This record gives sequence, structure tokens and C-alpha cells, in this order.
Amino acid sequence: MSTIRLGDIAPNFTANTTEGEINFHEWLDAGWGVLFSHPADYTPVCTTELGTVAKYKLEFDNRNVKVIALSVDSLEDHRGWIKDINETQHTTVNFPIIADEDRKVAQLYDMIHPNADDNATVRSVFVIGPDKKVKLMLTYPASTGRNFKEILRVIDSLQLTAYHKVATPANWNNGEDCVIVPTVTNEEIPGLFPKGHVEVKPYLRLTPQPNL
Ligand code: BEZ
Repeated sequence: MSTIRLGDIAPNFTANTTEGEINFHEWLDAGWGVLFSHPADYTPVCTTELGTVAKYKLEFDNRNVKVIALSVDSLEDHRGWIKDINETQHTTVNFPIIADEDRKVAQLYDMIHPNADDNATVRSVFVIGPDKKVKLMLTYPASTGRNFKEILRVIDSLQLTAYHKVATPANWNNGEDCVIVPTVTNEEIPGLFPKGHVEVKPYLRLTPQPNL
């Protein structure tokens, strides 16, 4: 098991998936990626999660994000369960699911938390940038299904702040005002943020979202 921190290169691996064997870094190619684990196949919350991700395909595509799921179940289980997800969630699973039966990837990404469950993966999420670096990590317990709208919202923030000298405030959504990062001087603001800005405090300066 390795400790993964923000800014680290996402560990590479090869794995069997429902869409064939992949080399993770090659599969990511030059785009963004989301690697997320779920505790087990044929479980209720996971069924709703994977159905939800399938329904958001266009949202992920529009952000140039590939999504891949993982649990320590077999390919055979994944394939059978996908039929149930499609039937019950009224969708078509359109992303690969890793069959991590030997827990190789789960251990590499520290997705098994023994004090929560010895055998099952927790609900981990890793967002990986085009530079293959980890940009975000989330960990949810088995009992709580994730909010994938939040994951899309975070990706909007990550993709914006990667290219503009802004950060996004609490509860920010795409299209809303952003915070100018503290390293930008007041003299630089007109050149960087021609739409203007409001100085609430010298350290709290807001500007319209720059990439719209
Ligand atoms: C679920 O996906 O519903 C689930 C999985 C493991 C434990 C509890 C719930």
C-alpha cells in the first residue's frame, strides 16, 4: 500500500475490466480521469451509484473526463450485475469496471480500510489530471452513496483553476463569481481579469468567472 497525496502521480497499473485489459495511464491518454471504488457488486447503494454515473456520461464527456469503477468482485459478477444496473436504473453502463479480485489496485490506492471493512473497498474517488497527477481524493463509507453532481462541480473548479489565477469559494457552481488568488497583486488584476473585480477585503477579491 502506498500513501497517495494530492499532486502525486496516480500509480499506474494493468487490470482486467469489463471493457478488456487496460494499462491505466495509457487508458487515461491525455485527458482527465475519475477512478472510483465501490464496496461490492449486487448491492443496493452501489447499483444506484453506477447507474447515476452512466446517466452522466455526456457531462463527463463534455469535460474530457473518462470514468472507471472498481470493486474486488470478478468480471463475471460485474457482467451479471451490469444487467441489473441497466434494468433497474434505466440506463446502459457505458464505462469500464475493474475486476480487482486480487486487490492489487485497491491496495495500491488504499481503498480497503480494515477498521471499516476487512474485505470490501470503501467508496473512494480519485480525480486525475492530464498530467496524471492526483487532483482530488474523496472517501465515503459504504452506507453513504456519493453525490456525483458534486464530483462534476469539483471537476469544473479543478479545470478552471488549472488555467486561471482564481480559486472557487464555498458552494461555488460553474458560472458564479470566483476568488482571485492571493498571489495576484492589485496591479495585475486589470490585465488578468478585464471583466472587473470587487474587493470585499484586501484578501478577498471576487471576479466574474474568467473562462466564460
Ligand atoms: C450498498 O451498496 O448498498 C452497500 C454496500 C456495502 C455495505 C452497505 C451498503
